[in-house]
Amino acid sequence: MSSWTYVSAIREHVGQEVTLKGWLANRRSSGKLHFLQVRDGTGTIQCVMEKKIVGDEPFDAAGALPLESSLAVSGTVREDPRSPIGFELAVTAFSVVAPAGLDYPIQKKEAGTDFLMDHRHLWLRSRRQQAILAVRAEIIRAIRDHLDSQGFTLIDAPILTPAACEGTSTLFETDYFGDKAYLTQSGQLYMEAAAMAFGRVYCFGPTFRAEKSKTRRHLTEFWMVEPEMAFVDLDGDMAIIEDLLVAVVARVLDRRREELKVVERDVSKLEAVRKPFPRMRYDEAIEVLKRAGASVEWGADFGGDEETILSRQHDSPLLVHRYPADVKAFYMKRDPQDPRLALAVDVLAPEGYGEIVGGSQREDDLAVLEASLERHKLPREAFEWYLDLRRYGTVTHSGFGIGIERTVAWICGLPHIRETIPFPRLMSRLSP
Ligand code: 4AD
Ligand code: MG
Repeated sequence: MSSWTYVSAIREHVGQEVTLKGWLANRRSSGKLHFLQVRDGTGTIQCVMEKKIVGDEPFDAAGALPLESSLAVSGTVREDPRSPIGFELAVTAFSVVAPAGLDYPIQKKEAGTDFLMDHRHLWLRSRRQQAILAVRAEIIRAIRDHLDSQGFTLIDAPILTPAACEGTSTLFETDYFGDKAYLTQSGQLYMEAAAMAFGRVYCFGPTFRAEKSKTRRHLTEFWMVEPEMAFVDLDGDMAIIEDLLVAVVARVLDRRREELKVVERDVSKLEAVRKPFPRMRYDEAIEVLKRAGASVEWGADFGGDEETILSRQHDSPLLVHRYPADVKAFYMKRDPQDPRLALAVDVLAPEGYGEIVGGSQREDDLAVLEASLERHKLPREAFEWYLDLRRYGTVTHSGFGIGIERTVAWICGLPHIRETIPFPRLMSRLSP
């Protein structure tokens, strides 16, 4: 057998005999020719099979092979200007690895989203889903490359935790040898500890929120990157967020043009993302919303509707900062200029996408933090270790969390978050 290669590497083999291994995505036949679309995960290539070359029996077998069967095809790579990838394979031999059943559930006809979600394990084979997940992988790689190049150390946070980080109402509880444990809502508190050891750190992992929200923006399990930096204040935090997002957009535009085309993304919208990003105080945001006719009062957190209005007004992500402390988490530092406010920032992605990043400067004063724990009715014992960080060499520090799925939704221009993760967990979905 000739040497095994991938569709993505086919241009290096023009005129050579190669073998591809994959799945039969589609077939068209005319007389003594089959045009087999073979998908191998790196791309799809047309394989032209002639009866007189492969012989009657293999030719008939290929003609009867159900779609989605796995197979190996060997042949000569030739250039073809009509091919979307510029090449096709002139088949010399083919073998079936495993024939698919005739009842492959996902047919060409339009299927509803629920049906496709129920068959997510097969839906992943579609061109569009592959494109979205390839962009996702690129975004993750871009975030990690950027942070790694900026002196950050990756520190993994635990998944099983003894206490809440982001409010007690969205905790998934589990039995831990007779005690209670919770699936982590955020690795942040652990990153604060790590920042006091390493200076600049980040974690990347799954996080869980028992959100009773059936919106296009909420998952119960999502992936988050959470950088944390010692000796950085809110302004520094915002600058780091801005640089990170610029790097991510540039990387996807550079490396995933094809995939953006598949998902029909208007890339001019991404190309318009530029530093400096607009910044706006919460106070100003309230005024903007009122002028736009929203019925929102000072003191309220923004919901999806408010974020949509705000984020439609700019080409680049909008940094909204200094929210009322009462609607934000216990660990955020109060604004010394106005103690009603927290030194918080939310980043609202343009085109109506809304919050993709949430961050803040952290409370670094022991007494103030103790009072905050009490106000939020959080169990003091579970946070003793966290208070130690303020007892032993406390410093100004800040961080943020970027939600991978919401970022993918924005960059791919998707209406709903459910297609941005391989196997979504929603309030109403735990399978497949
Ligand atoms: O704003 P959040 O809740 O902030 C934190 O968890 C902080 N501890 C982060 C930090 O400062 N280290 O969440 C951060 C981001 C949101 O901006 C959003 O992108 C994403 O996580 N996110 C969700 N994504 C999908 N489904 C949900 N239910 C989400 N909740 C938050
Ligand atoms: Mg938030």
